Amino acid sequence: MFLVFNDPQAIAQYLSERFINLIKTKPQSVLGLATGSTMEPLYHQFCVDAKQQALDVSQITSFNLDEYIGLSHEHPQSYHYYMNQHLFKHLGFDAHKNFLPNGVPENVDAHCQEYSQKIADHGGIDLQLLGVGTNGHIGFNEPGTSFDSRTHVVELSETTRIDNGRFFDSMDEVPTQAITMGMRDIMEAKQIVFIATGDNKAQVMLDLYESEVDEQMPASMLKDHPNTLFIIDKKAAALLPAAACEFVE
Ligand code: F6R
Repeated sequence: MFLVFNDPQAIAQYLSERFINLIKTKPQSVLGLATGSTMEPLYHQFCVDAKQQALDVSQITSFNLDEYIGLSHEHPQSYHYYMNQHLFKHLGFDAHKNFLPNGVPENVDAHCQEYSQKIADHGGIDLQLLGVGTNGHIGFNEPGTSFDSRTHVVELSETTRIDNGRFFDSMDEVPTQAITMGMRDIMEAKQIVFIATGDNKAQVMLDLYESEVDEQMPASMLKDHPNTLFIIDKKAAALLPAAACEFVE
């Protein structure tokens, strides 16, 4: 069930190559992108490899999973800013094709509806990248979110706010709400690559492994997805039984 690599760098190398092959095969790929610490080594490696191979990324469309409500695009902790810093500005992406939820929308309900609709209008997501929260959230779909949900506003759980507090100067600055792609939007992706790395993800990997498909453990929905790769490192695999792991050397 879990492909286990030595460390985040080994995962980054493996996935960067896979993504490059996908984009070479289908230059107009629609990618679902995530933010967070987990993705940083991957985006870095992908930028290095893509530059080296002069990969044309100009036809790619991307949809990010989520954005904090109340943070403008220029805010250093916004996911717009993150994506620019870690990926977009380094390669020749067409900015008109890079979509993220807007954290300061005029009409939030209309914006959410349009976001899911836009994904459908582009023919759906070819490959969705996912990290996972220590409580099992994917995107910002917190435990208890309906598997039928589309893009919507979420109240961030205290666990998520505390986990993400490390990026802010004080807890008061951590937003209380976000917009996230819904569970159904995620589930409709043709292929999903789920990544978890580090000691702090070991417990949630065990919880995920032991969980039935249950809305209280959002990531468990992926067990019903026909084409999901669960990729983790040795630290995140620390509590899993060996039988659940395929080690990649
Ligand atoms: C980010 C996202 C979140 C993160 C998760 C893990 O766009 O959707 O689900 O993937 O919170 O974050 P890190 O990687 O910082 O541990």
